[in-house]
Amino acid sequence: MKIWNVTKRIDDEVLLEAASALRAGELVAFPTETVYGLGANAFSEDAVKSVFTTKGRPADNPLIVHIARAEDVAKVIPHDITLCTPIKQAMAAFWPGPLTILVPASDAIAPSVRPGLDTVGVRCPNHPVAQRLLELAGVPVAAPSANVSGRPSPTRARDVVDDLDGKIAGVVDGGPCEVGLESTVVLITDACATIYRPGAITQSDLEVALGIPVSLDPFLTAETEQPKSPGMKYRHYAPDASVHVWWGDELEVTQAIEQFVRHHADESVAVISPTAFDVPITWHPHTEEDYTIALSRELYGLLREFDRRHASHILVHGVPPQGPGLALMNRLQKAAEGRVYQV
Ligand code: TXA
Ligand code: MG
Repeated sequence: MKIWNVTKRIDDEVLLEAASALRAGELVAFPTETVYGLGANAFSEDAVKSVFTTKGRPADNPLIVHIARAEDVAKVIPHDITLCTPIKQAMAAFWPGPLTILVPASDAIAPSVRPGLDTVGVRCPNHPVAQRLLELAGVPVAAPSANVSGRPSPTRARDVVDDLDGKIAGVVDGGPCEVGLESTVVLITDACATIYRPGAITQSDLEVALGIPVSLDPFLTAETEQPKSPGMKYRHYAPDASVHVWWGDELEVTQAIEQFVRHHADESVAVISPTAFDVPITWHPHTEEDYTIALSRELYGLLREFDRRHASHILVHGVPPQGPGLALMNRLQKAAEGRVYQV
């Protein structure tokens, strides 16, 4: 597969090749501020269908459509529709950025983008490479994360190569992603908003900007509920190693990790925590860096790296599931398949 490198300079000549492939219905992976997306022309049912087969993605899981500029939202909604004021406020406040808004879908959008749904998720990414690529492509681009379904989302071009080499036209390499976790997905009406998937734009960010109550899909706090966003029900983000997460009292978390390491001395145990740990495979942020933000950015890359290094267990010092910590703990919960302990 082709690698279009624009890490040094956003070169239109290079991007035009990728954009033409997209327009023509081929699959092109590209960087966004959250994770790398696997792009397909959202007007082409054939292109969109091949996204599902290439990723091994369940057909009932809708895709997010990406647009170059906020005004391009007109291309994905019916002509006779005006969006409600809070949706317009959200676009003005958070676009370009890591917020996906569910809007009424135009018939022009390929049906497989939103299987059986009358809404489509739309987002204007805040990444100069994504914006220029979308502009040059001239069509809305449906793009799920560019991983094989069930693997951690890719945050570097080489993660995309690892998962999809030989299966897609190519990847635009724009360097590592800054946010590292997928966008917030939100349904907004005149009266209220509901977060279906937590991300870097938080519940209180939305409440402040929209001035209406913002709630979390009950699924996010009680796993017994059915999620409103189909993708949330699938096993996701899981590495080969078993992941264990503790959060709560700092000292007790550290003690729990130390004890696990002692009891599994004959196994390869990796540790992710705010401070250095005396094990061969470990990660902690640079001093001065916020742990939640830094780990959100690095998490998927670490899960992939620790698998490459054959860790049998990955132990994570978790954070309270609030503010930006909610998105991080939501992804850790999935990676840990329930092995999350509050101490
Ligand atoms: O940050 C992101 O959102 C990245 C980058 C590439 O933009 N994309 C991404 O796409 O994470 P994906 O396909 O991995 O996740 C899309 C999520 C799924 O949970 C899906 O169920 C939900 O958005 N979704 C999309 N359209 C929806 C709709 N109409 N109604 C409810 N949920 C929807
Ligand atoms: Mg995904």
